[in-house]
Amino acid sequence: MSFRSAKVVSVEELSEGIYRMKLKLMDDLGVEPQPFQFFMVWVPRVKEVPMSISDYVDGSLAILFRVRGRGTEALSKARGFIGVRGPYGRGLSIRRGERMLVIAGGVGIAPVPYLVRTALRTRSSVDVLWGVRKACEVIDGGKLFQGVKPSSFYVATEDCSTDYCGTAIEVALKALGSGSWDRVILVGPREMLREGCRRFMDIDPLVALESIVKCGIGLCGTCSLKPMPKLLCMDGPLYKCSQAVDYLEYG
Ligand SMILES: Cc1cc2nc3c(=O)[nH]c(=O)nc-3n(C[C@H](O)[C@H](O)[C@H](O)COP(=O)(O)OP(=O)(O)OC[C@H]3O[C@@H](n4cnc5c(N)ncnc54)[C@H](O)[C@@H]3O)c2cc1C
Ligand code: FES
Repeated sequence: MSFRSAKVVSVEELSEGIYRMKLKLMDDLGVEPQPFQFFMVWVPRVKEVPMSISDYVDGSLAILFRVRGRGTEALSKARGFIGVRGPYGRGLSIRRGERMLVIAGGVGIAPVPYLVRTALRTRSSVDVLWGVRKACEVIDGGKLFQGVKPSSFYVATEDCSTDYCGTAIEVALKALGSGSWDRVILVGPREMLREGCRRFMDIDPLVALESIVKCGIGLCGTCSLKPMPKLLCMDGPLYKCSQAVDYLEYG
């Protein structure tokens, strides 16, 4: 449960309301985190917030976040040193040479750069389709994926300001219907996950779920995914649609 000290190296607004914070951890993690794991990030005198690993190389951690309330607002202004504990959750273990498609919505794109980095190490490929509402939310691929490149990167916008017009799920069905992937992963707001699970029912994608996380280590029960008998911090955030359907519909 103890925090590691982390130095804020930079905080940059990448698009409207979406920030990337780069941190240097002051001591060794002792493990190589897996994509989709998360850290509890503590802003001194404010609160702790769960944040996915957006990138990690040799003790340098990046998180990508949208300002929602008090915690993320404070995070966007944090300077000096903050605290982190983790990595928590069960990450994705990538099989050598596998082909993945990620359909992300909004700030659900956060864990994708680290997934791409990890996949490249195992000669696996990641196609990315990212959906946002309007032009001012778009982040250029070169800025988003620093030092790594997904196999392909499409941006769908609901205001039709890019070539791919519509929600991420609509565009995925139209533009990518003919591709074949070993794994399809959906990450984003609940409505998007629900829609994706319905539309891609035959391939049973993985979904990255969100809930309120407090302890991060299975003690408090806050992250319960009722009616699923699961704790997100222990065995999440990734579940198959077939496992998560009741949570997405009624949880
Ligand atoms: C495992 C995990 C990983 C996450 N990774 C990221 C990330 O990489 N980037 C990112 O921007 N956000 C991420 N989140 C969500 C992020 O933790 C919350 O947005 C943040 O805690 C909100 O804190 P706040 O004090 O700013 O807002 P609050 O004042 O706590 O809340 C503001 C509003 O957001 C709602 N809210 C708060 N937390 C959640 C949640 N978990 N799910 C849905 N609604 C919520 C509240 O109900 C309220 O309406 C993650 C959440 C989890 C559980
Ligand atoms: S956050 Fe406490 S049990 Fe998961």
